[in-house]
Amino acid sequence: MKIAICGKGGVGKSTISAVLIGALAEQGRKVLAIDADPSPHLARLLGLPEGDIPVPIAKMQDLLQDRTQRNGPFYNMNPRVEDLPEKFMQKVNTNIKLMVLGAIPQGGSGCACAENAVLRNLLNLLLLTPDEDIVLDMEAGVEHLGRGTIASAEHIFIVVQPYRGSIETAAKIDSMARDLDIPSLKIIANNITDQEDIAFIRETTGTEPYAVFPASNSVKKAERKGLPVFGTDPLLDQAATDLVKRILSKA
Ligand SMILES: Nc1ncnc2c1ncn2[C@@H]1O[C@H](COP(=O)(O)OP(=O)(O)OP(=O)(O)O)[C@@H](O)[C@H]1O
Ligand SMILES: [Mg+2]
Repeated sequence: MKIAICGKGGVGKSTISAVLIGALAEQGRKVLAIDADPSPHLARLLGLPEGDIPVPIAKMQDLLQDRTQRNGPFYNMNPRVEDLPEKFMQKVNTNIKLMVLGAIPQGGSGCACAENAVLRNLLNLLLLTPDEDIVLDMEAGVEHLGRGTIASAEHIFIVVQPYRGSIETAAKIDSMARDLDIPSLKIIANNITDQEDIAFIRETTGTEPYAVFPASNSVKKAERKGLPVFGTDPLLDQAATDLVKRILSKA
């Protein structure tokens, strides 16, 4: 299964990605974790030691220049990326591998189209990997949808929390993803304390959340200490395992 995790900044995309990756691996599945956030930290949430955390490909200026052959406004729009997965894939454990793409900051000086062509090609190549599950921790917000980077994901999970700002971003993601013909869009509720939280999400999104992740003090603390989040809170782990089973049963 190829899953992209989206949502407003700070709603818990990386946390949900990490526990989902942990739950998939626990079921014996091979998982490729891809961090596509401009300030990536999925590696830490998966428990990789600081010294093993890879440099994001988006920060490898020489490589990006080499592949895009950028010369002023001209560049190779279809840069070669086939060799990059093998070079930059980091093993986390027997079942989990990680690729840190990062993202090119938008705006400011100049167009990032050339560099984005490398990241887009690489992501599309990875999404075609047949034998592995992919969990893609996306950049916050909606901008990346316009770049078409997740067009080949099978499922998009839109993480929301029980507050209006996150629901508004979810609505934008939902409408942009529908334009891309993504077959499966699901609302994932995070940081849930009680039934009132779930009712709020149900009413404002007009749909029942596909999965519900509880608010968890231990996960918050694990993040502060730089510890892996899967295996920290049985309730959160269970929510991730239930979600994996639900997707696998195609419900
Ligand atoms: N269910 C939860 N219970 C308690 N704390 C949580 C929960 N989910 C996420 N958090 C905390 O909220 C903060 C933001 O989470 P996280 O980094 O996963 O969000 P994000 O959507 O990936 O953020 P960004 O947009 O910056 O990438 C972290 O401190 C994390 O530990
Ligand atoms: Mg994140």
